[in-house]
Amino acid sequence: MKKQKTEGFLIVFEGTDGTGKSTQLDLLASYLLAKGYPVITTREPTNGKYGQQIRTLYTNRKQCSHEEELELFLADRRQHVDELLTPALAEGKIILCDRYFLSTAAYQGAVGFDPEEILQRNSFAPVPDLALLFQAPPEIGTERIVKGRGDSLNDFEQQDTLKRVAAIFAAIKKPYIRVVDATGTIEEVHLQIRHYITLLFSEAQHPTSD
Ligand code: TYD
Repeated sequence: MKKQKTEGFLIVFEGTDGTGKSTQLDLLASYLLAKGYPVITTREPTNGKYGQQIRTLYTNRKQCSHEEELELFLADRRQHVDELLTPALAEGKIILCDRYFLSTAAYQGAVGFDPEEILQRNSFAPVPDLALLFQAPPEIGTERIVKGRGDSLNDFEQQDTLKRVAAIFAAIKKPYIRVVDATGTIEEVHLQIRHYITLLFSEAQHPTSD
């Protein structure tokens, strides 16, 4: 029999850029808060010192080696886990986090690291209760970035990189991953996510024996 869940929930939003993760995270947060759940929202890279360093890499990744870049993402996550995620889970919060270690496996995997090894290097980080993996053809993502944000693509968002990133995301098999078809309308995608949340909460209340 599984232990009755007493801690909070860690729900992470993963996928390639421009698939609507951030919009959906905000919508889900409003929905759960209106129902009275103790929700907090957060993101990686964080606004901490390592996260800020990472943001300076957006326009020119050649400023540091791939290994240094990977280490920055890991240092940022370690700080996030210690200062926010672990305490909030212990307090029973429902954490909605925009990107987490599957992003490291996929993005840093896309520049040559072994995704499995990256996952192992993240073993310090709490395993999410649910990872919503947003999937849409990379063309849709890049079009949304350029038209919606009125922006050009940064180094992490170049089309060929995103194709490799999407392929790695799709190949990672974990029991907590649920694929979200991000090609629908905002409301359609929101309803898919609500469905997964309902399942997660009911599984936690009625744990199955294993
Ligand atoms: P993103 O969520 O797009 O942040 P913002 O809205 O501030 O642009 O994430 C920034 C980029 O960082 C994104 O292209 C993916 C990349 N990234 C990694 O390469 N590895 C990681 O571990 C994480 C968390 C993000």
